[in-house]
Amino acid sequence: MALQISISGTAAGLLGLPRSSSSSSSSRVRLRVRAVASENVKTTSGEVEKVKLGASDVEVTKLGIGAWAWGDTAYWNDSGWDDRKLKEAKAAFNISIDGGITFFDTAEVYGAPIMGDVSSETLLGSFIQEKKKTDPVEVAVATKFAALPWRFGRGSVLSALKKSLSRLGVSSVDLYQLHWPGIWGNEGYIDGLGDAVEKGLVKAVGVSNYSEKRLRDAYDRLKKRGIPLAANQVNYSLIYRNPEENGVKAACDELGITLIAYSPIAQGMLTGKYTPENPPTGPRGRIYTPEVLKMLQPLLVRLREIGESYNKTNTQVALNWLVCQDNVVPIPGAKNAEQAKEFVGALGWKLTEQEIEELRSLAAQVKSVVGFPVEKL
Ligand SMILES: NC(=O)c1ccc[n+]([C@@H]2O[C@H](COP(=O)([O-])OP(=O)(O)OC[C@H]3O[C@@H](n4cnc5c(N)ncnc54)[C@H](OP(=O)(O)O)[C@@H]3O)[C@@H](O)[C@H]2O)c1
Repeated sequence: MALQISISGTAAGLLGLPRSSSSSSSSRVRLRVRAVASENVKTTSGEVEKVKLGASDVEVTKLGIGAWAWGDTAYWNDSGWDDRKLKEAKAAFNISIDGGITFFDTAEVYGAPIMGDVSSETLLGSFIQEKKKTDPVEVAVATKFAALPWRFGRGSVLSALKKSLSRLGVSSVDLYQLHWPGIWGNEGYIDGLGDAVEKGLVKAVGVSNYSEKRLRDAYDRLKKRGIPLAANQVNYSLIYRNPEENGVKAACDELGITLIAYSPIAQGMLTGKYTPENPPTGPRGRIYTPEVLKMLQPLLVRLREIGESYNKTNTQVALNWLVCQDNVVPIPGAKNAEQAKEFVGALGWKLTEQEIEELRSLAAQVKSVVGFPVEKL
């Protein structure tokens, strides 16, 4: 929600703004204020912290928004995609922008147009274009190449990228990532990423679901061409800490590669919305069973208690735990305006070191669920 506030006469003077001598509306001082209607959101767009993606020149907000659920019915929206969900996704986009979050993550396979799905890239592109009619905001877009087994060589990266650009309706994206390592052909894919940079079709490149070894290889290969590997997007949350254990996080920190944390609220489980009596439906229900949800309860209770002392929600505390880490950019998925508003309120404050450590050790007692198997490719 963008507000137009007109201030004239005495009020303008009190605010130190130029006072108008005329009472006509055209001579009034106009202030454009971004605001979102949430008690936790006092952020204006100018205040949201931005960070560089690795050693690239691309700057993104310290928290981005994931767009996997937009248009998708294969994993999310098991009751189907419809007009209401479209409006909600668009509201999530608009509220994020109005709250100052301008970084969005999508992929060519999100909402791949089969079985009634709508392409997430197409949706994101249309939301950006619509928003830009009234707001000259700069949006940073990240999308991904799917390393499907029948895709060979560096040329496949460029041809997939061009289709993504066309769906998004843009001439370049800020970050292009290999969605997962291929069963074969990985060197070609990395070369394709480099080609995309050299052709000016992308501003920065990254990988996703890459192990430490693959990450180091990709980094070295791009470095020879003078291109920084900007990011590795991996599953990382309070209760999914594999990146801390498998060397990925340490390698990202050492090499100056931003760790983009996907599923940062464990697909909704850290929000406190789901309980052993009320588990999620659809494919998530197979991962986050009542047993897993039962194991989570002590952590959820502590998240709520800590949140209360800051007037924040479980979700905001779980995200702040990631935001507090220097080299981490979480990208929670927002299906609607309410969820996006909550994400905005995860920024602009900090847990104490003591709280961060307490949550770290409490969460370590929760056994990790099975992750995306491609992490092990
Ligand atoms: N590179 C990869 O392989 C990969 C893999 C996974 C995800 N990602 C990226 O990461 C993004 C985020 O990950 P994710 O979508 O898997 O998980 P997530 O961000 O941890 O969880 C998102 C889900 O949590 C629920 N939720 C969100 N905000 C909430 C709130 N305030 N209160 C209650 N429930 C809330 C929503 O589902 P309900 O409302 O239905 O509960 C939402 O769809 C994706 O959109 C995608 O861009 C990348």
